[in-house]
Amino acid sequence: MNMDIVLGLQWGDEGKGKFIDLISEGYDITARFNGGANAGHSIERDGKRITLKSLPSGIFMKNVQNVIGTGTVLDPVSFRNEILNLHRFDESIEPEKNLVISKKAHLVLPTHRLLDVFMEENPEYTTIGTTKNGIAQAYSNKILRQNLRVGDIESRDFESRILHILQRDYRFLAIGDRILPSLDEITRDFFEAIDFIKKFRRMETEIFLNKAMTEGKKILAEGSQAAMLDIDHGTYPYVTSSSTTAAGASTGLGVSPRKIGEIFGIAKAYFTRVGNGAFPTELFDEVGEEIRDKGNEFGSNTGRPRRIVWLDLPALRYAIMINGVTQIILTKADILSGMESVAVCTHYELEDGTVETIAGTLPDNARPVLKALKGWSGDIAAVKDVAGLPEELKAFLSFLNTELGVPVTYLSTGPGREQILKLNSK
Ligand code: IMO
Ligand code: MG
Repeated sequence: MNMDIVLGLQWGDEGKGKFIDLISEGYDITARFNGGANAGHSIERDGKRITLKSLPSGIFMKNVQNVIGTGTVLDPVSFRNEILNLHRFDESIEPEKNLVISKKAHLVLPTHRLLDVFMEENPEYTTIGTTKNGIAQAYSNKILRQNLRVGDIESRDFESRILHILQRDYRFLAIGDRILPSLDEITRDFFEAIDFIKKFRRMETEIFLNKAMTEGKKILAEGSQAAMLDIDHGTYPYVTSSSTTAAGASTGLGVSPRKIGEIFGIAKAYFTRVGNGAFPTELFDEVGEEIRDKGNEFGSNTGRPRRIVWLDLPALRYAIMINGVTQIILTKADILSGMESVAVCTHYELEDGTVETIAGTLPDNARPVLKALKGWSGDIAAVKDVAGLPEELKAFLSFLNTELGVPVTYLSTGPGREQILKLNSK
């Protein structure tokens, strides 16, 4: 088994970046297989924090190759800004050397972004609460077979094809008296970003990855978004437009499911969500506010306040099931420290019985059943070993192990790089 996968089990923002940054040392390659600039994977280094969008979280490791895979969508303008930001963060990083981009990754065009905003704001469409990065527009044009890919940059008619699409989309967007950036401006900016991308290696990443595996190299596939945002298995229509699950890593990278080993599922000790969609057990009260403030639960990508919910076991069981999770990494239990009691939704009651696993969406009349567990206190971030954890937190962890049937193998104790405890060897 040469490929392990890290993915989110909730609605995103589980702390995937930090965990990947920590374990990527043990891998030769980290690879992004889905999504694009809608992701916000935060990493702390030397007390400074950076949020990666399209770049894999192994980018800081000189000896790790990083792949932007086929299942992703790449926005050249956003990519250029991200690389410039990365250089400002740490001058010694040389992504020209340790990053490769799939020629089959789809391009996000400037009009995709404008169309995303248009659809979100127009009452004739369902408002999803997107990150406004043009994600759905790029993926839908991919499915329509009307889009261009990274590999097309080299083709002789690339410029004329792009101009055709931008002008066509712009004509649609300009109907009425909407205020838009000028077409000349977005076109110029886009082609400048395309020139910038040419500094990076673009290739058939399927061949690159499979060849690496035959040489015994290990790959870490990095999921963006999360199970409940999956286009098929999430809470449709309030989802993203890509395959966020373990199977998505296979298609998104061109790596056989037979090559997959460990599947690390990341979950917070409570749930958060940005954007629209049902969220049973949502905490509208001061408890929710306290968790939001302490946990700094504001979108790393959009700055929006995240909605807060108690840990939802039926949703977690579902995410674990569809992904085949082998290990759970629990984050942000430190944020709940100091609360007298911590609630967990164990199951839902319906008119005709109870459900212990929810399949993405719930019937409207489902009633969450909460179990209160004793809260823990103290400075969890300062705890250096498992023995030093409060008994109540240990009890919470063992409750999760029993309820979920998959071991929690790591506990993140704070935002810092070193603030993570390995709980048991699997
Ligand atoms: P990471 O990888 C949290 C959400 C948006 C919206 C829905 C669709 O950092 O966990 P999109 O822009 O993808 O069309 O928006 O998906 N969303 C995320 N929420 N974390 C993310 O990424 C997200 N990426 C998309 O808020 O509800
Ligand atoms: Mg995020």
